[in-house]
Amino acid sequence: MPDDSCPWKNDIGDVLLTEGQIRQRVQELAAEVSADYAGQHLVLVVALKGAVVFAADLMRALQVPLCLDFVAASSYGSGTVSSGEVRVGYETCGDLKGRHVLVVEDIVDSGRTLSVLVASLRSRGAASVKTCCLLDKPSRRAVDFRPEYVGFEIPDHFVVGYGLDYAERYRSLPFVAVLRPEAYQ
Ligand code: PRP
Repeated sequence: MPDDSCPWKNDIGDVLLTEGQIRQRVQELAAEVSADYAGQHLVLVVALKGAVVFAADLMRALQVPLCLDFVAASSYGSGTVSSGEVRVGYETCGDLKGRHVLVVEDIVDSGRTLSVLVASLRSRGAASVKTCCLLDKPSRRAVDFRPEYVGFEIPDHFVVGYGLDYAERYRSLPFVAVLRPEAYQ
């Protein structure tokens, strides 16, 4: 449970992933990615906004040279269930022809956001486009999509923290926790 210093302690239910668990898994993911891309130069495309915290930790543990860029895609608005419509705002502007792209995402739910993003990045001539997601909810998949790198598979709870929000709140929590229904009902 979050302690009394947590600004949202009354909204937070079970902590699914502690700071320590996340830290250890991010190091493991970084080692895996570094080994797979050894000798290559990576373009890390971070999906705003949720993946910012994960990406900041992941990139500092990567052992391959990389460029950093961002993409904005949004499907939730202020609800807890995906709207089903993926809106792509800002798109990375660098030349991706022949580059190896790794999209960093906080969570895969229906899979729609990453399907759209990957297709968009591939259409720009990237040599490869793979995805690295901290959290995966495979039980919620609506389209056929499987990320290459996954931190944790989680059950179908609405979770916040470590970048993940509800109505733009809770992103700064250092752990991943279930949001109490009273906080959004
Ligand atoms: C969340 C999350 C993923 C997407 C996953 O983004 O960051 O991008 O939803 O859902 P999907 O697999 O059903 O498409 P959100 O729209 O909440 O934007 P945010 O990252 O700015 O919070």
